[in-house]
Amino acid sequence: MKLKHLLMSAAILGAVAQTNAADQVTVIRAGKLVDVVAGTVLKDQSIVITGERISAVGPSASTAVPAGAKVIDLSTQTVLPGLIDMHTHLTADAYLGGYNALGVSDVRAALYGVLAARKTLEAGFTTVRDVGSSGTGFGDVALRDAINDGDFIGPRMRSAGHLIGMKGGHCDDNLLPPDANYVARGVADGPWAARAKVREMAKYGADVIKICASGGVLSKGDAAGAQEYTLEEMQAIIGEAHKLGRKVAAHAHGASAIRDAILAGVDSIEHASLIDDEGIKLAKERGTYLVMDIYDDDFILQEGAKAGILPESLEKEREVGQLQRDNFRKAFGKGVKMAYGTDAGVYPHGDNAKQFYYMVKYGMTSMQAIQSATIHAADLLGWKDRVGSISIGKFADIIAVQGNPADDATQLTNVSFVMKGGAVIRQQ
Ligand code: ARG
Repeated sequence: MKLKHLLMSAAILGAVAQTNAADQVTVIRAGKLVDVVAGTVLKDQSIVITGERISAVGPSASTAVPAGAKVIDLSTQTVLPGLIDMHTHLTADAYLGGYNALGVSDVRAALYGVLAARKTLEAGFTTVRDVGSSGTGFGDVALRDAINDGDFIGPRMRSAGHLIGMKGGHCDDNLLPPDANYVARGVADGPWAARAKVREMAKYGADVIKICASGGVLSKGDAAGAQEYTLEEMQAIIGEAHKLGRKVAAHAHGASAIRDAILAGVDSIEHASLIDDEGIKLAKERGTYLVMDIYDDDFILQEGAKAGILPESLEKEREVGQLQRDNFRKAFGKGVKMAYGTDAGVYPHGDNAKQFYYMVKYGMTSMQAIQSATIHAADLLGWKDRVGSISIGKFADIIAVQGNPADDATQLTNVSFVMKGGAVIRQQ
């Protein structure tokens, strides 16, 4: 029934199925192939895909094409694993900033997410970690489930549900007057309430927990650098999440919030704009990932006012934007682990690859930037067994570009081929 429905809608809408039939064998002939594990580029390779997974990979000269296999010729292109964005908000529209967002229902936001999911996948991002939807309806969880059910195309998703934070902080919503008495669904104060909130997120399908350790840029009435959750609250949240098998991502611009989140055992620090030497040292010692969205500043300062972003937020952005880029260079230079994450939804979905330019400008080689968006991101997701490299047994999530992105990662803004789970999503 489900399959029939999918095939019918595919025929009507010209859409594409997003998983391969279990016995379908496909061979990709790759002119160049980026081996993100070794950090090298190999020539004339063939990838054999059986159903949705990679069953063989090796030199074309010695890799036989099985009888009946479909051959995809990418011999003039460079092939690499599908990209991973560790910080998206697929249900958020970048052009609805500040008070403009207040009129958007949860259902409308989720439907917008359908479009955002397709744009993201077509841009070569075959997996995302969605770090929270607004409202009360677990829109990002519903989106993940609908994609997994094959209702429409989108990336593999790990979803957070609602963002957990203190009352009046970055994860609350401070736009309404006191008479509205509005408190965001993820608000919880004190260690036990915060623990209970983790349980609630897990109950309704969160794969990962997102917390606000410090204030933020796009929120009203808080300072980006100010600590919000205390060490004690974060210990409770992270202890509970890990007990339930969920990793924790902490939004943190400010130095003390970054320090306490790392001490409490967080898995990744998001933004990390004002990280100091102590934070860098701790992140390195504990193996904590930083996920630094160093493209956003461009979009916020160029388009933010038009999108309705509050003047106080634009002011905060001017304070942290450049510092974040400088601290990216510093932290990466000291050997802190970095995973690619962009805060898509703050800027338009589908532009996820624009951040590669800044990662290279601020200290990475193109290969290192690609690794941050593939193998390192897969590690932070806890999905190294299924995504992040072109290896036997992993999902056939594969993209291609003209030229060689290992020499120039900015070419990833122009992806010519996208495959997810063995099914071709896009081919130019
Ligand atoms: N969601 C983040 C916040 O509101 C966006 C920060 C964007 N700015 C930046 N320089 N990365 O705090």
